[in-house]
Amino acid sequence: MKVAAIVGSIRKDSYNLQLAKHVQKRYAGQFEVEILDLASLPMYNQDIELDAPQEVLDFKAKVKEADAVLWVTPEYNSTIPGVLGNAIDWLSRVDQVMHGKPSIIMGSSMGILGSVKAQMHLRDILFAGGLNSPVFGGNEVYVGAVHEKFDTEGNLTDEATNAFLDDVIAKFQEWVKPYIKQYA
Ligand SMILES: Cc1cc2nc3c(=O)[nH]c(=O)nc-3n(C[C@H](O)[C@H](O)[C@H](O)COP(=O)(O)O)c2cc1C
Repeated sequence: MKVAAIVGSIRKDSYNLQLAKHVQKRYAGQFEVEILDLASLPMYNQDIELDAPQEVLDFKAKVKEADAVLWVTPEYNSTIPGVLGNAIDWLSRVDQVMHGKPSIIMGSSMGILGSVKAQMHLRDILFAGGLNSPVFGGNEVYVGAVHEKFDTEGNLTDEATNAFLDDVIAKFQEWVKPYIKQYA
């Protein structure tokens, strides 16, 4: 299975990026994760959507070829960050590459709630007509107090979180099977 990871923070030391890299590394023997670049995406503009810049075409092509999308997001002002909304706007238009493509959502924050509101909003957004993505439910991954769970090398050292992630990922891999052509 090929998973495209879309991270809602473009800062270099992002905890959410570290979480995406952790999933990439920890489950490398089970599926392949490619972390996509949102920093190079221009702002969505309907005037140019039919003649979109190469960065947008490349981004959408990677999402299209993935079997599933892993969204890893912080919370900004009680919702998803603008960079994530911008990426979603591009994905939702023209060839609408998210249609029918399964999603799993994770997120982290330094606060105790671990991006709950952002994830709730993202789940709703993924059900919008232009996205229409089936979202893995019932196994929400909210990594609160994230700064206490990663070491300085970017390893997620909190064993309870790792055990929880193992369980969620195992269940996700079962859930996602009917959506993936190679298993059909
Ligand atoms: C503009 C801005 C708004 C934020 N709003 C929230 C918020 O509403 N809730 C929350 O838990 N954290 C909020 N934070 C704190 C982020 O959760 C924290 O900076 C987190 O580390 C960002 O994710 P990153 O490490 O992946 O960049 C905000 C941070 C910024 C920069």
